[in-house]
Amino acid sequence: MKKWLIILSRIEIALLFLVIIAGSVVRMTDSGMGCPDWPKCFGHLIPPTERAQLDWQPNTQFHKNQIIIVNEALYTAVEAFTTSEVYQAENWAKYTKHDYALFNPLHTWIEYINRLLGALAGLPMLALFFISLSFVRKDWRYFALAAAGLFMLGFEAWLGKLVVDGNLIPGSITIHMLGALILVAIMLVFNGLASREDIKPVLHTKRFLSLMLIALVFTLLQITLGTQVRELVDGLHQSGVERSEWMGQMDIFFYIHRSFSILILALNIYLWWTNRKDNMGYWQWNWVITLLGLEVLLGIILAYFDLPKFAQPLHLLLAAVIFAFQLHAIIHLALKGQVSPLKA
Ligand code: HEM
Repeated sequence: MKKWLIILSRIEIALLFLVIIAGSVVRMTDSGMGCPDWPKCFGHLIPPTERAQLDWQPNTQFHKNQIIIVNEALYTAVEAFTTSEVYQAENWAKYTKHDYALFNPLHTWIEYINRLLGALAGLPMLALFFISLSFVRKDWRYFALAAAGLFMLGFEAWLGKLVVDGNLIPGSITIHMLGALILVAIMLVFNGLASREDIKPVLHTKRFLSLMLIALVFTLLQITLGTQVRELVDGLHQSGVERSEWMGQMDIFFYIHRSFSILILALNIYLWWTNRKDNMGYWQWNWVITLLGLEVLLGIILAYFDLPKFAQPLHLLLAAVIFAFQLHAIIHLALKGQVSPLKA
């Protein structure tokens, strides 16, 4: 049973990262409104591939809530019916949640794959929930974590729907990102608990633990600042400002974000160096430091080369992976930490 908890929580973590990547590819390609409705896409379980599938057709069956485009506006079928020879307006209700009525098959399918991955991420979580339910009396922590995971997945899906209905409202993107990180955190703790017998002991001092916690909080703050910068960028993009002009219009959040990374880098280098020097055993910090170096480099590329598209999803992904490695190290400490003989 333990083996399954370990395998499924690992699969879940991998899927969560895939969902994070897919979400940022949606943004990179501007596919956010590729499906105007939610959870279906143009009223279909499998979305259309051609514009003609969204046209009104005579003598054709339409199902309830199926969407068509008429005069550059979306209309949904009031109920299931078969059309006659002429268009009858009373069978169709104007879609009022927003007025975005373009069909781009690439955008639609990118958004659809993003949603499919989100739904797929629900499956291992559901399995973990039921497995842990079976031994809740022996150890309730797995059940509590899996239940929290399911709740957060539901919350993220609901937020996704809000974003679609509200045509990408600012603010919800930051909460969505933090929600994804909470999910990763829940699964890392779950995985750590399930595999604690195989974890090698690590050393710690009070000071080292405090600094690791500060480093984690700093990363979260930096991610929140970054998503604020990103929301500004999205706003400029939506109001038609040229990409080459974006960096010239940055606000205070960008400058804090940029400067804060110097402090973050210094703190993490110190932790990496202490870990190495005192043989404390946190292999994760080698990854943190390598990825942080790359992250700052990507930040510089974004800021000084007019935000190249390829760098946007990478900058976001690396931020989430750095957070995961830092938290993983702290979980190791919580599960297998021993006070260092060098300094208590
Ligand atoms: C500790 C290092 C850093 C972390 C963890 C980090 C994290 C992030 C995150 C999570 C975002 C939001 C991305 C999104 O939602 O798509 C972001 C955006 C951004 N960051 Fe950073 N960042 C770091 C360093 C830097 C540096 C050093 C710079 C510039 C010199 C920079 C420039 C930017 C820019 C321009 C954006 C907006 C990108 C966009 O709209 O796609 N970042 N950052």
